[in-house]
Amino acid sequence: MAEFPISEVRAAFPALQDDFVFFDNAAGAQSPQTVLNAVANHLLHRNVQRGGRYKKSQEVDEAIAQARTSVALLVNARHSDEISFGMNATSFMRLVSIAIGQSLGDHRENDRREIIVTDLDHEANIAVWLALEREGAKIVWWNFRDDGRLHLEDLEKLLSPRTRIVACTLASNAIGSILNVAEVSKRAHAAGAEVFIDAVHYGPHGTIDVQAFDCDYLVCSGYKMFSPHMGFLWGRLETLNALPTFREDFVPDTTPSKLEVGTYVYENVAGMDAAVRYLEDLGRKINPAATSRRAALVASTEAIKCYEAQLSGAMLDALASAKATVYGITTKDQIAHRTPTFGFNLPGISPAKVTEELAKRNIGVRDGHMYSPRLMKRLGLAKESGEVRASLVHYNTVEDVRRFGSALAEMTSH
Ligand SMILES: Cc1ncc(COP(=O)(O)O)c(C=O)c1O
Repeated sequence: MAEFPISEVRAAFPALQDDFVFFDNAAGAQSPQTVLNAVANHLLHRNVQRGGRYKKSQEVDEAIAQARTSVALLVNARHSDEISFGMNATSFMRLVSIAIGQSLGDHRENDRREIIVTDLDHEANIAVWLALEREGAKIVWWNFRDDGRLHLEDLEKLLSPRTRIVACTLASNAIGSILNVAEVSKRAHAAGAEVFIDAVHYGPHGTIDVQAFDCDYLVCSGYKMFSPHMGFLWGRLETLNALPTFREDFVPDTTPSKLEVGTYVYENVAGMDAAVRYLEDLGRKINPAATSRRAALVASTEAIKCYEAQLSGAMLDALASAKATVYGITTKDQIAHRTPTFGFNLPGISPAKVTEELAKRNIGVRDGHMYSPRLMKRLGLAKESGEVRASLVHYNTVEDVRRFGSALAEMTSH
């Protein structure tokens, strides 16, 4: 297996060619030139509505179909119609949750009204389920432990014949902890419940395999995965087809049309297709023997995971040198269980001040509650100030981490 081709990776991203260290990737990543070209080509050559009989419109249909095939390969879907495109992850969470809310009383064998949510999640994957209390849902909390991780033993105690669905994140956008969702599915399904996975934060950091995860729904945001702004939903074909969703009555009650009512941003879907192909090309560079598109994608995402583990090791050293309090997983032997997203605070300096000082040194990080105010509360942090978050992806380098570490050291030595 070839070494991680970091110079080629960086050269592919026009936005990385200046002196700026971009560590705010969990809020949205940069796009390679190939993605920008795909968006521009779409706007230049086929900026028309789909579904017409003329060539340009047919090309839009074809572009969407191709993107659907690519995203299906990215998540290892059984069928490309299991993928729906839309504006973002939150709107798909809301759409699925409304449908589940409407069918809460439908289970004949028993009354399944309990929805398990976690306090490790982004608020989007909590609030949409809390809103179902009006429909008679009962919310059950699966809380993370002091190690910043959700534990399966705790989930087991919460599951019952009353559980309708478990909604949980694959990785925390605020502290990076990864959850073993295949084990969640095993337990939830044994109790007769479904599983809804928020893969938004995990997306750029490892392999997504809905068949291995054995979940029922999974949402992602393309813009965290090197495409422009868009989101997509995967769901089992038969599960999605059974969902009561809103659509005009002439729209077929089958996926993807039943989940894609209205117009979304086609050029960004073309960009998402190109983002998948970018990852695929990277996989072929790393493992020229990859025989299929999926094999190339897995080669890429597995290599990214290994490379990012090195970055995480360097980040833990840099943060330890600055005497930072790091939340969640802090030991190198546990790095496989976290993404390179670090929530931390420095002694005696407010999060806002830290990010301002880093900004002066041309380093972009973020401060605040990261849309996870409950998680902040559990960490003993005020919602208003929260944490500092440095979030890396595979185009960041150990040199970036060194600059970040030196900047922190300068701040803490005063
Ligand atoms: C873990 C997680 N879930 C959900 C969201 C919301 O995604 P979107 O902006 O696509 O609605 C985000 C965005 O930051 C996130 O990090």
